[in-house]
Amino acid sequence: MRVVTDLEALSRAAAEEFTRRARAATTRQGHFRVALAGGSTPARLYALLADPRRSWRRRIPWAKVHVFFGDERAVPLTHRDSNYRMARFALLRRVPIPPSQIHPIRVAGHRRSPGLKAAHRAAHLYDRVLRRAFATPDRGIPRFDLVLLGMGADGHVASIFPGSGALRIRRRLVTGVSPPGSAGPGGTRARVTLTLPVINAASCVMILVSGESKSDTLVGVLASRRGRRGAGAAGRGVLPASLVKPTRGDLFWIVDRAAAERLPQG
Ligand code: 6PG
Repeated sequence: MRVVTDLEALSRAAAEEFTRRARAATTRQGHFRVALAGGSTPARLYALLADPRRSWRRRIPWAKVHVFFGDERAVPLTHRDSNYRMARFALLRRVPIPPSQIHPIRVAGHRRSPGLKAAHRAAHLYDRVLRRAFATPDRGIPRFDLVLLGMGADGHVASIFPGSGALRIRRRLVTGVSPPGSAGPGGTRARVTLTLPVINAASCVMILVSGESKSDTLVGVLASRRGRRGAGAAGRGVLPASLVKPTRGDLFWIVDRAAAERLPQG
């Protein structure tokens, strides 16, 4: 775990690691396949990667980068809540990645905000996209070179929420989910997410955590990873972030001081 001063420092550290991994993967295998995170934390990272005044943009072999998504909300790709839309404006439309190498999670629906059924349909289609892109046999698990994740204050990663059935999936690559509080009118939307087997198959998982609102949960996550019931949020059962354990890969936590303020010192 790397603790840095603030979100800007976190974004720069993540940009350097992203660049390092992209260069190593393209040198080794001719391509770099990354699953981007949604939410707000990675937006600055994406802007730094795309910034022509910075070294990262020119050091990354964009023509060999293949972009996927860790999760998506059940909204059109043009909707203000779409993770794809955020990544497109911050990064994808500003770097020379061939459009055929950008793979959004498309949730088609007949209404402005399709529901869980549309999310499950989209998950099935994205499963095919992944298997085709990675040439994964039907029972295999694609291995991303890098999976970027944020973490919610409840310990969710991607759209794998505490208590969700997604936590128990062992074979499917992608699933539709109903986030907590999504029941009833005006509830939060259905989502589509990579499953833990895919996340944990990655060569590298980088979890970016910023802000005091995550500090209690971070204590719980690290305590439960050490096999102890943590303080605070850990009392609410398994924290999905604590289940991110790449089987044959690296796990990087990059957190800012505000998020790390309740961690045991030293
Ligand atoms: C999403 C993300 C989600 C996000 C966390 C943290 O679709 O919102 O995939 O998992 O990473 O909720 O969000 P913030 O970065 O906005 O705190």
